[in-house]
Amino acid sequence: MNTAAVASVGAKQIRHYLQFNDLNAEEYLYLFERAALIKKKFKAYEKHHPLVDRTLAMIFEKASTRTRVSFEAGMYQLGGSVVHLTTGDSQLGRAEPIEDSAKVISRMVDLVMIRTYEQTKIEAFAAHSRVPVINGLTNEFHPCQILADLFTFIEHRGLRDDGHIDLGCLKGKTVAWVGDGNNMANTWLQASEILGFTVHLSTPSGYEVDQSIAGIRSADSYKVFKDPMDACGGADLVTTDVWTSMGYEAENEARKKAFADWCVDAEMMRAAKPDALFMHCLPAHRGEEVSAEVIDGPQSVVWDEAENRMHVQKALMEYLLLGRL
Ligand code: CP
Ligand code: NVA
Repeated sequence: MNTAAVASVGAKQIRHYLQFNDLNAEEYLYLFERAALIKKKFKAYEKHHPLVDRTLAMIFEKASTRTRVSFEAGMYQLGGSVVHLTTGDSQLGRAEPIEDSAKVISRMVDLVMIRTYEQTKIEAFAAHSRVPVINGLTNEFHPCQILADLFTFIEHRGLRDDGHIDLGCLKGKTVAWVGDGNNMANTWLQASEILGFTVHLSTPSGYEVDQSIAGIRSADSYKVFKDPMDACGGADLVTTDVWTSMGYEAENEARKKAFADWCVDAEMMRAAKPDALFMHCLPAHRGEEVSAEVIDGPQSVVWDEAENRMHVQKALMEYLLLGRL
């Protein structure tokens, strides 16, 4: 576990969720089962209010649709409330130190979600926070998204009739990552080490994953392929992301040239297993990283994936604040 992820205030130990490897396999099993229950109750219009009188502060230094809506709607559904801050409408944009912001905000709320640039920034916030901090995306990681992606895979491949989850459905499976060696790719690698599957990585030259930034122990859980078609060979899941992540817009034109052959199309999906799923964290650019035929086709589960952000994050917020119920 990442040492930045555990801290104590007085006698109380607080857990942060700054990277995927801040939780272990057993905790993920609990979270997935809890998310399945929470989703079932949501679909049945059943009240689930464990976080009455609790407040979540959401801090956005980058744009968002899914993260904003899923955390905000999710917190209200848990009986709590939210405060929404951006760089532009808070003192964060006027250079108030991150440490001071953390000390102040965490005295008034119960939980903080941050979307920002460098991972070191969220770590600095967490180090001075009295309450749990959740990573809503940094340049390096996007753990809440992979939590939702894995839950979506499990729903399609490993949810038992009794509602229990079989994490074995992930063991030995192959996830093909086609595209940028970015925050999503790094997080997939952390997940593969913890949950026992393999990632086939294919990135254009110059955009490879850096194992030390990804924060994984070894190269045992991934293989690198020059040709994205080879990476997709026999995959159980094919996934990709935008060619240019937020914060890298100045590189857009160069990236468009470098990534031209890294578009997930029907041919790549045919190289994967016949029942392979397609995922994309969204927002997507049809005709760039994925063809319309694939993202809007029968193997795509991107809408389940987006919805599941809310269900898994509700389970996560409940767990960080209340532990196992
Ligand atoms: N996938 C995701 O995090 O989407 P947003 O940028 O819209 O929050
Ligand atoms: N890699 C993308 C993910 C967006 C949800 C980015 O960081 O912009």
